Amino acid sequence: MSVEFSPDALKKFAETVSRYPKKEAAMLPVLNLAQQEFGYLGPEAIEYIAKLMGQSPARVHGVVSFYTMYNMKPIGRHHIQVCRTLPCALGGAEHVTEFIKQKLGIEVGQTTTDGRFTLSEVECLASCGTAPMMQVDDDYYENLDEEKVTQILESLK
Ligand code: FES
Repeated sequence: MSVEFSPDALKKFAETVSRYPKKEAAMLPVLNLAQQEFGYLGPEAIEYIAKLMGQSPARVHGVVSFYTMYNMKPIGRHHIQVCRTLPCALGGAEHVTEFIKQKLGIEVGQTTTDGRFTLSEVECLASCGTAPMMQVDDDYYENLDEEKVTQILESLK
């Protein structure tokens, strides 16, 4: 994995940072950019971003590890994130997760051997009224049941 921004990403980085009064305030959008560019934010990416941002690697690691939207290790082509916070839990999130685990033959935090799916549990994704729900890549899937989950998984190649 290359841990340097492409010329295009460097341009976006400069534009992003210029929109904030302090470089540090741009940390989240810069990390979003880095994740798009590198796929995940491992130790080398964290070191690189720390240098770019003029921060310590420990500080950047602290931010990356706090937010579930950042992946600290490689993930599959599709990242399934099941919300496990109270409204979704009351709506059956645990059953959704168990069903997906069984269907894919993986545990939470694992990736299928074909590299197709990674399964994670995350905190509230602000779609509590349509619980239980999950995010797959950039899309929300709501009011989940076994049938819906099966259709969703089959539609994702
Ligand atoms: S509790 Fe699941 S989206 Fe808010």
